[in-house]
Amino acid sequence: MTTNKMWGGRFRQGPASIMEEINTSIDFDKRLAAEDIAGSLAHADMLAAKGIIAKADAAKIRKGLTAIKREMEKGTFPFRREYEDIHLNVEARLSELIGKASGRLHTARSRNDQVATDFRLWVRSACERADAGLLALQQALVKQAAKHTDTIMPGFTHMQPAQPVTFGHHCLAYVEMAERDRARFADARARMNESPLGAAALAGTPYKIDRKMTAKALGFDAPMRNSLDAVASRDFALEYLAAASIAATHLSRFAEEIVLWTSPAYGFVRLSDSFSTGSSIMPQKRNPDAAELVRAKVGRILGAFTGLLVVVKGLALAYAKDLQEDKEPVFAAADALDLALAAIAGIAGDITVNKQAMRAAAEKGYPTATDLADWVVTKLNRPFREAHHIAGAAVARAEALGIGLEALPLEELKKIESGITKDIYKVLSLDASVHARTSLGGTAPVRVAEQVAFWKARLS
Ligand code: ARG
Repeated sequence: MTTNKMWGGRFRQGPASIMEEINTSIDFDKRLAAEDIAGSLAHADMLAAKGIIAKADAAKIRKGLTAIKREMEKGTFPFRREYEDIHLNVEARLSELIGKASGRLHTARSRNDQVATDFRLWVRSACERADAGLLALQQALVKQAAKHTDTIMPGFTHMQPAQPVTFGHHCLAYVEMAERDRARFADARARMNESPLGAAALAGTPYKIDRKMTAKALGFDAPMRNSLDAVASRDFALEYLAAASIAATHLSRFAEEIVLWTSPAYGFVRLSDSFSTGSSIMPQKRNPDAAELVRAKVGRILGAFTGLLVVVKGLALAYAKDLQEDKEPVFAAADALDLALAAIAGIAGDITVNKQAMRAAAEKGYPTATDLADWVVTKLNRPFREAHHIAGAAVARAEALGIGLEALPLEELKKIESGITKDIYKVLSLDASVHARTSLGGTAPVRVAEQVAFWKARLS
């Protein structure tokens, strides 16, 4: 075979180094080190128990893997790109440490089932971390809610003042969202908790292995039933990313509210110095950077989800190297989510509420107009649609006079609807409005206090 005179000389080494560059994954899959060792320990024990390898070899392997684990903890383990990935790096090091017996470890196994196992274990832990982070957020929010069962703030729809609500009620809305997020992670965790180990490359193995034994050793509920599915599927990672995307979306909504509320235009809450940053030019500034970054993190997380979905889309069975691209998005998303959760829980615990500012804002925009209409329905037995019209006219009159509904003189109200009596003023205050909303799930302080008690019991 002749060398291509045009570029053969130059490219002689080219393909080899670029091959290593595109193929190597050790730079990121080193994060699977602990899981990889756990998987290998379980596998070696099983091979010995089933008489597939000698007990003496298994003992050497166990010793070697334990030494490697210590090297990793100490940071002295030599991660080497020429060994491509975490699996080959561990195996190469094992060979250096224990010699020939190391070659027995890869009996009845492939990197395909190995990586699927490692990654499931890693994502399973990520689900657990997400749960802990969400729980911490819930606890911080319940604490705030307990302090503010009757703190009045404007409730918005379309970002327009709608009806007054209690701040505790508002906090508990996020506690509910976080609870569903936790359920999504728990659900994903339960479904992913099956062991791919023993699927080998794709078809299973002729060795008389015990997949139940390795599954149990690794805390899996059972071995996966189908070896092709075991090595080819990544929906467990996709489910994690989907749950993470939804959770991060919820966090972004709360973060956005913190950004708004800390702005002097609202002034509803104040973040302490520990959660504020200054400006390099404007000395008066207290910026809510952490909340802004929490609001932004969903970009990475959702990006990771769509990215991995596209990697898996259209991929014929079983394993293909495309699947090596599964790890970076999951690692990036998990880092972002863990950090966002820690930051937002910190923020939720840190805020101090400015009750006066909240109340003053709640007084703007005629938020008790619905209460006026409800009084007309209840006391004058008018259909709600007519009552709505009457209340609308009252708002228009108050607006023209530049006063609130509470300050509108009785004669003005009587001009609109002659049946109105001074009894109506009882329902026009902010306090009366929130205290009246006692329906299940409503904003009334009694209901919010019940919900606080419910969550305290549930989260303890
Ligand atoms: N580093 C690979 C990955 O992350 C491990 C599996 C490689 N298997 C193989 N047959 N090349 O997917």
